Amino acid sequence: MRILHIVATPRGSESHSLRVSEAFLKGLAEQSGDVEVDVVDLYRHDLPAVAGDNLEAKYSLMVGRPIDRGHQESWQQIESLIEHFVSADAYLITAPMWNFGVPYALKYYIDCIVQPGYLFRYDETGQVVPMVTGKRMVCVTARGADYSPGSFLHPYDFQEPYLRAIFGFVGITDIRFIHAQPMDITPHQREAALGEALAQARELGGGFLVQPAGAAA
Ligand SMILES: Cc1cc2nc3c(=O)[nH]c(=O)nc-3n(C[C@H](O)[C@H](O)[C@H](O)COP(=O)(O)O)c2cc1C
Repeated sequence: MRILHIVATPRGSESHSLRVSEAFLKGLAEQSGDVEVDVVDLYRHDLPAVAGDNLEAKYSLMVGRPIDRGHQESWQQIESLIEHFVSADAYLITAPMWNFGVPYALKYYIDCIVQPGYLFRYDETGQVVPMVTGKRMVCVTARGADYSPGSFLHPYDFQEPYLRAIFGFVGITDIRFIHAQPMDITPHQREAALGEALAQARELGGGFLVQPAGAAA
């Protein structure tokens, strides 16, 4: 199994979300030595422009036209990013909440890879056909405050609904979330919440290989 670990925090060893993801990967590695983890660190990775030639190419695809010759060379950068994404068997996203949503680097990556004809297509009746099927995703987030269901801030959580929507749209519907929250209110709350998230991550990692795709609630 090859897991693509998409790292969307720039905080390195200081990162709460990364610490929780590492616990997930440790739990997974303890189950099997046959797991390959491929890392895309979005703050150390030059992503192709979603402008200029690549935007022209995208608009050609959106209206069902072939990509013009002059835009093809540039588009190969987008294609290789997509190929790298779709070649994984499962995904781990590590992302802090930034301004109620995902950090800009993750949004930029999504803007690069979610392309018609590659991750989704339309059938002859205009219905969307997702093209990334049979794969699972785990999203580890860290938030300064607490957005748990029932809390005052829950309606401001645009991070989990967005990730579920965009990856569900392309066919990844089996998505588990682990939220480390609240990280920035008091040290006591942080330690308690981090401990809980680490335990959840170890457990999820430990059982990940035995759960069939589609098993997530
Ligand atoms: C630019 C920026 C925006 C943030 N926006 C939010 C926010 O909307 N809600 C929140 O609860 N915390 C917010 N935070 C706090 C982080 O989510 C929190 O510190 C988290 O633990 C960081 O995760 P990390 O250590 O994995 O990077 C923000 C932090 C930064 C740097």
